[in-house]
Amino acid sequence: MEKNQIKANREGPSQMAEGIAMQRFGESSKGENERICYDPYAIHFIRPEIIEFGKKHPEEAKKLIENTERLFPGLSSSIMARVRYFDDFVKKSVADGLKQLVILGAGYDTRAYRIEELKKNVNIFEMDHPNTQGFKIEKIKEIFGSTPENVVYVPVDFEKEKIGEKLFENGFISSKKTLFILEGLVMYIPPESVAEIFSFITENSAKGSGVIFDYYPQSVIDGTCKLEIGQNIRNHLIKIGEPLQFGIKEGEIENFLKEFGFSSIENVTSEDYKKAYFQGKNENRDVCELLYFAHAVV
Ligand SMILES: C[S@@+](CC[C@H](N)C(=O)[O-])C[C@H]1O[C@@H](n2cnc3c(N)ncnc32)[C@H](O)[C@@H]1O
Repeated sequence: MEKNQIKANREGPSQMAEGIAMQRFGESSKGENERICYDPYAIHFIRPEIIEFGKKHPEEAKKLIENTERLFPGLSSSIMARVRYFDDFVKKSVADGLKQLVILGAGYDTRAYRIEELKKNVNIFEMDHPNTQGFKIEKIKEIFGSTPENVVYVPVDFEKEKIGEKLFENGFISSKKTLFILEGLVMYIPPESVAEIFSFITENSAKGSGVIFDYYPQSVIDGTCKLEIGQNIRNHLIKIGEPLQFGIKEGEIENFLKEFGFSSIENVTSEDYKKAYFQGKNENRDVCELLYFAHAVV
């Protein structure tokens, strides 16, 4: 696990969090029978000038989207499948008795506000860098008038702080069945921080608790990926100041998670999620083979 030496720039709110909200907004604008996922609140986290640009210059906006698809073929569809897969997983976890949900690197994740099943009996901890979280809290207040009672916002820098101290200070109870979501996160933090988080989970959560996350193969992070898209993803993220830092060697996911003490490990490939979600009008949409999902139980 080689460390990428380029430092992340976290001066303002995360550009990646906004970019992903933009993709959720685009997907949510499609018809009910076509969209892969649905987030009616995503639009609020996109700078108004970007929305305005799209309205005033639809042809140019279309070209920008096409250019992004050319550089990163299928990645956006994989990210939409990720949102849907994680949504379905959260709903199933609530049905199975979930009591706490910890969303690490929450960015503009809106599950706490749009998944009805989470609104009763589940305490939610949203963890993110204060520069992104501060902006999000203001937006949530604008949309709903106040923040929900069952959501606690925990500002953190995963590179500098331990999540355990932060969570316990904010009311996390280790005997409660918990799900930890790391969506679009592990690739942006150093291996030591990923290890610290995964150790915390297996050492401090009730039996039957779980983790769900997505990852890229190590070759994308260290620049040895043979696919052009792998190089494009890496170079683009260096350019915008959110460089990739962590990946898992191909075929190593089981061993990686077992070392922390996880069991019931499932690795979800692009073939798996393409088959599950891309039918009918979506049948010909490409997905990106480099983005994997994984979940496991404590
Ligand atoms: C790619 S975004 C994903 C956001 C959200 N989970 C989603 O899927 O839409 C990554 C998020 O992780 C957060 N993040 C990255 N590195 C972090 C760090 N060292 N400490 C705290 N948050 C971090 C960013 O602020 C950002 O919100």
